[in-house]
Amino acid sequence: MSGVMSNEDLDLIFRKARTHSAWLNKSVEDALPTQIYDLAKMGPTSANMCPMRIIFVKSREAKEKLKPALDPGNVDKTMKAPVTAVIGMDVHFYEKLPQLFPHADAKAWFKDLPENVLEYIALRNGSLQGGYFMLAARALGLDCGPMSGFDNAKVDAAFFAGTRIKSNFLCNLGYGDASKLHPRSPRLRFEEACKMV
Ligand SMILES: Cc1cc2nc3c(=O)[nH]c(=O)nc-3n(C[C@H](O)[C@H](O)[C@H](O)COP(=O)(O)O)c2cc1C
Repeated sequence: MSGVMSNEDLDLIFRKARTHSAWLNKSVEDALPTQIYDLAKMGPTSANMCPMRIIFVKSREAKEKLKPALDPGNVDKTMKAPVTAVIGMDVHFYEKLPQLFPHADAKAWFKDLPENVLEYIALRNGSLQGGYFMLAARALGLDCGPMSGFDNAKVDAAFFAGTRIKSNFLCNLGYGDASKLHPRSPRLRFEEACKMV
């Protein structure tokens, strides 16, 4: 692989990207969720299991279905966001391994594992994919507002009933109103978080 991203691009997806709670009155084009997914899906997962499943909540009716599951502090920002992505994970991800990992019988490695172990694996890989999702959204010019402040069981009942998909986190999408941001909180320095050994 050669080449690096420009400083402007690094600013866009990392240095100047913020978590937004207030949204400009600008809708998210219908083509964007597909474009986000088509980038995010390329990020690596264990045995290429790709457990992330997403529901893009956009209509008023679907937003009302989501509303009762939200923590009070997340209601306003979510109801006003142009789109809210429900980032879920398929705990029975192994069913798709014959398609996703065709050169080996990877389904056999996972299918008899206990549900809590499957969920742990799906959470690790689904969360990685959720991270790829946010970076992809930012790379396409959108702002994100990730949230774990909601009742997972209620979201699962409302959006994933009758499946083995479970909610992981929510991510509001839109164009953030930067004038409403509070100052950026600090991050750990390299020396505080990392060691070279
Ligand atoms: C998985 C996850 C869950 C979060 N849950 C909430 C939440 O429920 N409500 C909220 O207001 N912010 C939530 N946040 C936002 C974080 O507080 C925010 O991303 C962090 O402070 C960094 O802010 P910055 O991106 O503006 O630097 C969440 C972020 C992540 C990644």
